Amino acid sequence: VLSHLSKKPRVVVCRDLGPDVMPLLRERNDIELVEWGKDNQAPPRDWLLQNVRGAAGLLIVFSEKIDAEVLEAAGPSLKVVSTMSVGYEHVQISDLAKYGVKLGYTPDVLTDAVADICVMLALMASRNAGESMSLVKQSKWPTWSPFVMCGPQTGTVNSPLSTIQRPSRTAGFLGFGRIAQATLSRLIPFGITDCIYTSNPSSSTSSSSSSSKSSRDTQILSSHSPRLRSLKSVSLDELARQSDILFILAPGGPKTYHVVNEEFLKKMQKHAVLVNGARGTLVDSDALAKALREKWIWGAGLDVVEGEPDIKEDHPLVKEPRCNVLPHIGSASFETRIQMATLAVRNVLAGVLGEEMPAELDL
Ligand code: DGY
Repeated sequence: VLSHLSKKPRVVVCRDLGPDVMPLLRERNDIELVEWGKDNQAPPRDWLLQNVRGAAGLLIVFSEKIDAEVLEAAGPSLKVVSTMSVGYEHVQISDLAKYGVKLGYTPDVLTDAVADICVMLALMASRNAGESMSLVKQSKWPTWSPFVMCGPQTGTVNSPLSTIQRPSRTAGFLGFGRIAQATLSRLIPFGITDCIYTSNPSSSTSSSSSSSKSSRDTQILSSHSPRLRSLKSVSLDELARQSDILFILAPGGPKTYHVVNEEFLKKMQKHAVLVNGARGTLVDSDALAKALREKWIWGAGLDVVEGEPDIKEDHPLVKEPRCNVLPHIGSASFETRIQMATLAVRNVLAGVLGEEMPAELDL
């Protein structure tokens, strides 16, 4: 009862953020802290609705859905929602704007970790890592043979044999923001020579670069010269047809829902691999499972799947040998998670105390 009478702004934190970060909240005497207290389990919706009442700040991760119900339960005291993620599809932006609540998020700090995982998934998918490891675990180590477990080389191949010369290799990006650009940088030493991207997946017509984009592209191109020979914005159709490796790194949400569907996958090259490091909702899982089963494409590497975390061994994608599935661990390095948690805390504190937030999303 007393805590409800406290004048200090109340901050509700929906995960334990660990020993490096929790003291940033626990040691403050200008806030009242309410902790769910677990690091590996989301609070039940009821707990959230009850504890958010009268709160000034709410710190969440992307499994907490923030909508009018939560904002209504919070009441007019709520000033800021701070999500420990760069994605914010779990937050109803229009409701937040309507209720005058700010949104903090965690861009930049996870760029390197996610780009690392994207490259890892591309290599795993090309070189049959998932299937190979599962053979070993089943005591079915294959006898070394000339072509057993072979897959397409990720980069260019320079060979005196004209039959295997591959002088160019194209990385395609659906979405070309910070993480995509960091992924491209990592791929160039592997022998990627060309890059195409579609920034606006919801438009299927050819997209020419705007002048600010083309100056950014000129800069990217010159920073990777001479190994990167071309960088251009293309239509979704060209992206599907021309990518040797296709990275999905665009935001989720209704505009990009199932943008990778049967029609898209049928246009891809047979040796192509698809990597999803963004949100599961961009890919129609059944269509991708069919594409893998019927060998329209070579393989897939997924850090995200629509419907996660409720993905079981009988999921059509998990069952596909050429599908390498990770349980959304793109940003899961200790260093990155500590930075994300720290930024989320700074955002929530600044928001409740009326200071400038280090990473506020423009609603
Ligand atoms: C994000 O931050 O949006 C990631 O998906 C979490 O790793």
